[in-house]
This record gives sequence, structure tokens and C-alpha cells, in this order.
Amino acid sequence: MTLHNRSILLVGGSGGLGTATARLLAAESAALTISYHSNESRAAALQDVADIVQADITKSADRTRLLDTVGQLYGVVIFTGDPSRVKDQAQLEAMARHAQEVNYLGPILLARDAAARMQAASVPGAIVLFSTMQAVSLFPGSTAYAGAKASLQHAARLLAKECRGQNIRVNVIAPGATAAGMAEASIASGKYNHLIEQGLAPRFGRAEDVARAVRFFLEPDNYITGQVLSVDGGVTL
Ligand SMILES: NC(=O)c1ccc[n+]([C@@H]2O[C@H](COP(=O)([O-])OP(=O)(O)OC[C@H]3O[C@@H](n4cnc5c(N)ncnc54)[C@H](OP(=O)(O)O)[C@@H]3O)[C@@H](O)[C@H]2O)c1
Repeated sequence: MTLHNRSILLVGGSGGLGTATARLLAAESAALTISYHSNESRAAALQDVADIVQADITKSADRTRLLDTVGQLYGVVIFTGDPSRVKDQAQLEAMARHAQEVNYLGPILLARDAAARMQAASVPGAIVLFSTMQAVSLFPGSTAYAGAKASLQHAARLLAKECRGQNIRVNVIAPGATAAGMAEASIASGKYNHLIEQGLAPRFGRAEDVARAVRFFLEPDNYITGQVLSVDGGVTL
């Protein structure tokens, strides 16, 4: 129960991986705030465990409002992401720009603002960002999404280094094919069956696998910073 009453913001926490994390942290009576973007009813299902706020992470004013709403923070977990799938190469430029905003710039600018507030208040803090197996291994066709997530990993490690020695830790989780949220439909369609058939992972991931990794990085006595943790059953080895 080391997270009891600790103020934790789950940005994009209304999605598949965020919901499982919120339930896990709520069981430890953390003080949760969850933000969503457009799916209000999905977020409303978490009203029993968190305060719910709408925000677009690509907008500077929304990022500031989010942090103002929560006040003194211990933890920030930024789930926000968009698969930015490109069906036709003519869409690539527009989709890559969109992917940069949602998967890289918005999350890293918010993380940096949160870290600056923690530094100014001289309090310890934990920041967790979300990448993907596609930024760790090469999945053809994933330029828009994977390029932005790979940038995020690098910038997160830079932030971790800038915060070194101040007890503000910054880490990244890179999930594999997880049967929740944005990958749920792809898994149901069989798109990732080869990962199991070829023995690259023993099963598809569960949202709870990821939630436990988030909890690990949020532990107040955790001594780890600047790392990217793959939670993918071995796919990217
Ligand atoms: N699920 C997987 O298998 C998997 C695998 C690898 C990596 N990941 C990564 O893990 C993270 C969470 O994935 P998930 O499966 O939980 O995704 P998800 O179910 O699609 O949830 C995404 C969350 O981000 C929010 N969001 C989207 N655009 C936003 C914006 N412009 N501003 C603010 N919030 C925004 C969504 O809000 P609304 O729903 O209200 O729009 C939702 O809360 C993502 O970064 C994803 O890239 C997931």
C-alpha cells in the first residue's frame, strides 16, 4: 500500500491499458486522475476510482490545465497514443505528422512540464511513458507510429538524465501485442497470430501484464530510471 493517497495522473488512462492500471492502483487507494480525449463514455466507466478530465495532449493549454487540475503530483503515467495506420502511401506524410503530435510531442512535452513542477516543488516523482514493440523491433509499414515512439524513447531517456539526482525517475514501457485497447481488434482479426504460431511469445499480452509493470515503476522506493522495459513475452528478442 505504498501508493496510498499518492496523487497519480493517468493521461489517456481511459483506454485498454490505462483501465487495467487504474483498477490496480485504485486497489492500493492511490488518488487517481484520469484523462481522456474523445470517448467520454469509456472514461465515465472509471468514475468510481478516479476524477475524470477531458484533455487533448497535442494542445499546450490542455496540458497546462491537466497539471493545474491535479496540483501536487507524485506520479504521471502517459498512455496516450494513436496507431496512425497508413493504408495508402499517399497518407504517409499527413499521418506521420499526426503521429508525431500524439505519440511523441504531446507526451514528452507533458512529461517535461510535470518534471519541472516536481523539481520546482522539490518533491520526488515517477513518470512513465508508453512506447511499443514496434519502436524496439522493425515492423514494416510502421514508419509513422514507430518513428514517433522511437523518438519518445530517446527523449524520455534525455529527460531522465536531466532529472538525475533529484529523485524524479522517468521510464518507458514498450508493450507487445496486448489483447486490450488499440490492439484488441487486430488480435481478434488474426493479424498477430504468427507471433504465437512461430513461438515468438507464449501468448498474447494481457492489460494486467502492463499494469503490473507500471506499478513497478511507480513504487516510491524504486531505484530505476531512464530505462525502456519491453512487456512483450519475448517478441522483440
Ligand atoms: N494495446 C496494445 O497492444 C499496445 C501495444 C503497444 C503499445 N501500446 C501503447 O500503449 C499505450 C496505451 O494503449 P491502449 O491500447 O490503452 O490504447 P487505447 O485503448 O486506444 O487508449 C488510448 C488513450 O489515449 C487517449 N488519447 C488518444 N488521443 C489523444 C489525444 N490527442 N490527447 C489525449 N488523449 C488521447 C484516448 O482517449 P479517447 O479514447 O477518449 O480518445 C485513450 O484514453 C499507447 O501509447 C499505445 O501506443 C499499446
